[in-house]
Amino acid sequence: MNSVDGQMPEESLDPADWQAMRALGHRMVDDMLNYLQTVRERPVWQPIPEEVKTHLKQPLPVEPQGPEQTYRDFLEKILPHPMGNIHPRFWGWVIGTGTPLGALAEMLAAGMNPNLGGAEHVANHVERQAVAWCKEMLGYPAEASGLLVSGGSMANLVGLTVARNAKAGFDLRRQGVQGAPKRLTLYGSQEMHSSIQKGVELLGLGSDSLRHVPVNADYQIEVTALDAAIARDRAAGMQPFCVIGNAGTVNTGAFDDLARLADICQREGLWFHVDGAFGALAALSPALRHLVAGMERADSLAFDLHKWMYMPYEAGCALVRREEDHRRAFALTPEYLTHGGERGLAAGSQWFSDYGIQLSRGFRALKVWMSIKEHGIRKYGRLIRQNVEQARYLAGLVDAAPTLERLAPVPLNIVCFRYKADHLDEAALNRLNQEILVQLHESGIAVPSYTTLNGKYALRVAITNHRSRREDFDLLVREVMRLGSAILIAG
Ligand SMILES: Cc1ncc(COP(=O)(O)O)c(C=O)c1O
Repeated sequence: MNSVDGQMPEESLDPADWQAMRALGHRMVDDMLNYLQTVRERPVWQPIPEEVKTHLKQPLPVEPQGPEQTYRDFLEKILPHPMGNIHPRFWGWVIGTGTPLGALAEMLAAGMNPNLGGAEHVANHVERQAVAWCKEMLGYPAEASGLLVSGGSMANLVGLTVARNAKAGFDLRRQGVQGAPKRLTLYGSQEMHSSIQKGVELLGLGSDSLRHVPVNADYQIEVTALDAAIARDRAAGMQPFCVIGNAGTVNTGAFDDLARLADICQREGLWFHVDGAFGALAALSPALRHLVAGMERADSLAFDLHKWMYMPYEAGCALVRREEDHRRAFALTPEYLTHGGERGLAAGSQWFSDYGIQLSRGFRALKVWMSIKEHGIRKYGRLIRQNVEQARYLAGLVDAAPTLERLAPVPLNIVCFRYKADHLDEAALNRLNQEILVQLHESGIAVPSYTTLNGKYALRVAITNHRSRREDFDLLVREVMRLGSAILIAG
């Protein structure tokens, strides 16, 4: 670019042609809404063509390609090769679907582009309201503190950090875990999610300090074994400090007896953290609420909005019963971030950066706030119940099919089953079911995931999908039986 008067001309990233950008934006909205409206007509997932992977190894663009070409590349190379989780027959891992208004809210949030680390601007008030609604809908105390985070893993990390610091009995922030006179230990069931272990490792506690307590036939923590583990560790000179309760385990959707765990924590002086990544949301349905009894007594609670409230990624929430514990674990205010005054943009004492790990934070609260307003909490409760009813329906189909075998109880929204053939041993059955799963994925028919239960490879259907219908489960069962017998015949 030529300079005038020896000075570099000033530039910005705004469009040279606002009218063209407006037209492109309108097209994007139309394309995306069409894409969502017609999702059922497409395969759930397809392997990514080599040509696309090669395209995505192109070198760093140095010169501008412009918005039109960039969007064309998106339409050709990216949009046709999705994960599939917005599809009605996606039931892999525990993955949500998103909604049209949720997607539009993301655009609005990015347009405003505020930083929710702190300061006196309206986005922070939106997040405060969203967190307050979360507490209310889960029956958690209104005076608790909380913040929106990237997801369940981060919410668990926040809860465990507060637990560790509050229960250490010394100034852990200053001395670190090296300052602990006794080894700090914590407890959860064998069915705990891996994010708990990751958190424990990140907190410097060491995964050996995390006790994996056995479960009963319903995959719930054995409370007597928990009592014994705590007593054993105390006798060995360790310092038990936290119990993790599961509200919906990742493998089978099991709920620990949260009220019993709360009693144990109260008696033993331990922190009670609940991982309710998806199961906590059972509280939204009057018919399912009994499953989470005791959850309201947790010292900290982690759950997701991008799973069973179907909001676009990323949206999780961490709640902590006593605000002072929460703040003490995270608040750190250098001079340049001083706040608490009454006037100006830097006013206000409640900055979200004092309650979590991030300083700069995006406006994920907007999609939460808009989604809850759009649908109202009752509808979410009905959809959660619908998914549970669909899981029961699928379990019924599996139980009625002579060549299928259910491998776990179905307390919530997860069904684990396999194709069975009496003449095959366990290893051959595992291989057969692995092949069925891959063919289901590659054909684009459906996406369950997998797990292993007592050594048996299971097709695992986790339903956090507001688009699924009963007919989708009929199709799944038909296809698993068809593929199973076809693979056996092909030898
Ligand atoms: C029980 C449980 N806890 C924690 C997580 C982690 O949540 P996220 O994937 O949102 O980090 C999951 C994810 O599936 C989960 O099922």
